[in-house]
Amino acid sequence: MKAPSGKGGAAVSIEDVTKVYETASGEDVHALDRINLRIEPGSFVACVGPSGCGKSTLLSLLAGLTEATEGTLRIDDSTVTKPHPKVGVVFQQDLLLYWRTILDNVLLPVEIKRLPRQGYVSRAMALLDQVGLAGFETKYPPELSGGMRQRVAICRALIQEPGLLLMDEPFGALDALTREQMLMDLQAMWMRLGNTVLFITHDIDEAVLLADRVLVMSPRPGRIDLDLSIDLPRPRHPGEVHDVPGFAESIREIRQVFEAKGILRARFEE
Ligand SMILES: Nc1ncnc2c1ncn2[C@@H]1O[C@H](COP(=O)(O)OP(=O)(O)OP(=O)(O)O)[C@@H](O)[C@H]1O
Ligand SMILES: [Mg+2]
Repeated sequence: MKAPSGKGGAAVSIEDVTKVYETASGEDVHALDRINLRIEPGSFVACVGPSGCGKSTLLSLLAGLTEATEGTLRIDDSTVTKPHPKVGVVFQQDLLLYWRTILDNVLLPVEIKRLPRQGYVSRAMALLDQVGLAGFETKYPPELSGGMRQRVAICRALIQEPGLLLMDEPFGALDALTREQMLMDLQAMWMRLGNTVLFITHDIDEAVLLADRVLVMSPRPGRIDLDLSIDLPRPRHPGEVHDVPGFAESIREIRQVFEAKGILRARFEE
């Protein structure tokens, strides 16, 4: 299978972006420090880093949900000042509305933007079909498992064919077997669509399995400590990738960054 051509994917450019939160107690929290990053259209970029290093902050800046203290973020040629129509977001929790059917949840962004619903119904059905949820359109979120709900959230993010898909630890709450299935599904979907993906995770294996490029962030204030290309053949299967030459080396390289900062230990200590 070939990697996607990149057509349909948005380009991302982040220039000297710093984010300082002002807390209610008047204290400043320096979340991100002069981040510079360019993402090629159609590439799959994963971002790993310790808890609190600013990963979700970076994602919410790109989603237009938070404002940068300094610097500029661009998606294609437009500067991000508010949520961009070309961007779809998947959060760690599925955030589905329990009183709406699965189909109506997927169509929510269309309704919010007051676009003609009818024009998107067949696309919503096709997306649900692609993630194995054909026949669940008229069910409600509480009738679905966690993995199924997260698939619905992905369909909702994809309904408007976003050139950029932002995913914030989307599989963190899933059991290991469902997560493995979702990793395969996401990879297959991306290979078909060719959109740009920024995928945030705590999991180094997950990052190397999915991405063309892994960004390793330092503890707060977040900076990019390592920008590593992952040039492994696709599709990458979670059960087989450990045997692919280069996989273990990439994992080791990323671990070494964390070990050097004392975030991971290199060996057992008595
Ligand atoms: N709205 C806010 N107001 C004040 N501080 C915030 C706010 N949002 C995040 N922070 C702080 O900014 C820092 C970065 O937070 P962020 O949520 O981006 O981290 P993260 O890397 O996503 O962590 P995790 O892996 O635990 O999700 C943290 O110290 C957090 O407490
Ligand atoms: Mg986070």
